[in-house]
Amino acid sequence: MTAIIQQIKERFSQSLVKSFGENFAATDPLIVAASNPRFGDYQCNISLSLAKELKQKPREVATTLLKNLEIDDLCQPPEIAGPGFINLTLKPSYLETQLKDLITDNRLGVAAANPSQKIIVDFSSPNIAKEMHVGHLRSTIIGDCIARILEFRHHQVIRLNHVGDWGTQFGMLITYLQEAYPSALTQADALDLGDLVSFYKKAKIRFDEDENFKETARQAVVKLQSGDPQSRQAWQLLCQQSRREFQKIYDILDIKLTERGESFYNPYLETVIRQLDQQGLLTEDNGALCVFLDGFTNKEGEPLPLIVKKSDGGYNYATTDLAAICYRVRQDKAARIIYVTDAGQANHFAQVFQVAKKAGFLPDNVAVVHVAFGLVLGEDGKKLKTRSGETVK
Ligand code: ARG
Repeated sequence: MTAIIQQIKERFSQSLVKSFGENFAATDPLIVAASNPRFGDYQCNISLSLAKELKQKPREVATTLLKNLEIDDLCQPPEIAGPGFINLTLKPSYLETQLKDLITDNRLGVAAANPSQKIIVDFSSPNIAKEMHVGHLRSTIIGDCIARILEFRHHQVIRLNHVGDWGTQFGMLITYLQEAYPSALTQADALDLGDLVSFYKKAKIRFDEDENFKETARQAVVKLQSGDPQSRQAWQLLCQQSRREFQKIYDILDIKLTERGESFYNPYLETVIRQLDQQGLLTEDNGALCVFLDGFTNKEGEPLPLIVKKSDGGYNYATTDLAAICYRVRQDKAARIIYVTDAGQANHFAQVFQVAKKAGFLPDNVAVVHVAFGLVLGEDGKKLKTRSGETVK
């Protein structure tokens, strides 16, 4: 089914040729939606831009165009307005037939995409050992809608749940549970997510206050990341607790997602750093490895870096997203990657995309899109806090 605006364009193109000759076959007739519904449904603005070239008054150009225009099956008699706009109003009978055709068409008039693309939608993505907050819920719903629309258009969609299941929080949590609730680290179902969240809060307080605890927690992360079986098992249990809670929400909303959390990319992080280094993109800054960015400056106007390896040797959110881009391009062979998060992460994505392009991880034929939504505000007009007291991102 050809879009209405397209059909109108074609009619005007034919009239342009009839009126002024073959040279105008490729001229865009400048059809747009009416600026105000009082003027109809669409308007044609070409008369004004052609007037000079044709050495005629715009209204004269419009009159000639209308004389040669065949459009009465679609529109009521067009009107010339103001300096030479042509206003168009669709005929109710035409709309009626269109609607009838749409209703009986089992694709409701939506054409299948050609070519069909492989598209990744990265959405939902809550963090393990924390509650799924309202921002994640928004991402879940918006992301699922996008995935469904793309699937309806016959694209091949991979729905990825990029859960936060890696990093310092686990060292902290494991260390805390070792002293406060050791059975949680060896037994399935010892805790529910509520317990986990409150332990997380307590662990965070210890982490911030107690240097010894901090150090032990750091070592616990290293142990976990180097594959120590006991730590792995504890981590698995913690992930399962959270996963079960998240699943309840996915079931209610009928959402299907493939979990591919941050930990999945762990084996690739070192390679990312090596490749950035080979491209000459890395700079050391206060012990951290960074890539300097174009167009991002701090208040003093100095260029901002994207940190990809922290001074303690750890990798971060950005490193994982770079590794994820490499994987999604090379292994998944995605043609488009869509990320659904709140607008607060716009800079993060713009920076990661820029570095990925510079490093050659992201070829020009792969599109990356950050679909940003606004922050959810509480009744006081401030960012809504979750039960665990964290700011909703
Ligand atoms: N876990 C992140 C958060 O809660 C969202 C992850 C979004 N996806 C991504 N590839 N960075 O903020």
